[in-house]
Amino acid sequence: SERTLVLVKPDGVERGLVGEVIGRIERKGLKLVALELRQVDEDLAKQHYAEHDGKPFFGSLLEFITSGQVLAAVVEGPRAISAFRQLAGGTDPVEKAAPGSIRGDFGLEVQYNLVHGSDSPESAEREIKLWFPSL
Ligand code: GTP
Ligand code: MG
Repeated sequence: SERTLVLVKPDGVERGLVGEVIGRIERKGLKLVALELRQVDEDLAKQHYAEHDGKPFFGSLLEFITSGQVLAAVVEGPRAISAFRQLAGGTDPVEKAAPGSIRGDFGLEVQYNLVHGSDSPESAEREIKLWFPSL
C-alpha cells in the first residue's frame, strides 16, 4: 500500500467540487488518512511547488494557490499515487485530461486544473511531511 498527497485547489473549493473529488477517491476504493481545509501561506506554497521555481508561471501559480482555501488530503491504497493521477487526468484539462477524469470533466485552463496529486513516491513523502508533519 502507498500514500499520496491530494489537494483540491482554490478553484475546486470555490466551485463546490470538494464532495465530487472526495467521492471519486472513495468510490475508487482509496482511503482517506487525513483531511484538512486550510489557507496556504506563501512559504508553504513555495515549498510545495519548489520544482517549478524559475518557470514563467511560478508567480501566478503561487498567487493562485494562496488565493483561497485548499483541501489537503493524504490518500492511501495500492498504487495510490498513480491511481489518483489517473482520476485527476493530465495537467491541461482540455488537451491532456480525458473526459471522465476530474480535470477532463470540470476544467478548462491549465492553471485552474482543480486538483493536485503527488507525482512519485519521493514527491509523496516530501509533500506529506510538508503538509502533515505529524503523520
Ligand atoms: P500538480 O498536481 O498541481 O503538481 O499538477 P501536475 O503535476 O499535473 O503539473 P505540474 O506539476 O507540471 O504543474 C504544477 C501546476 O502548475 C499545474 O497543475 C498547473 O496548475 C500549473 N501549471 C503547469 N504548467 C503551467 C503553464 O504552462 N501555465 C500555467 N499558467 N500554469 C501551469
Ligand atoms: Mg506536479
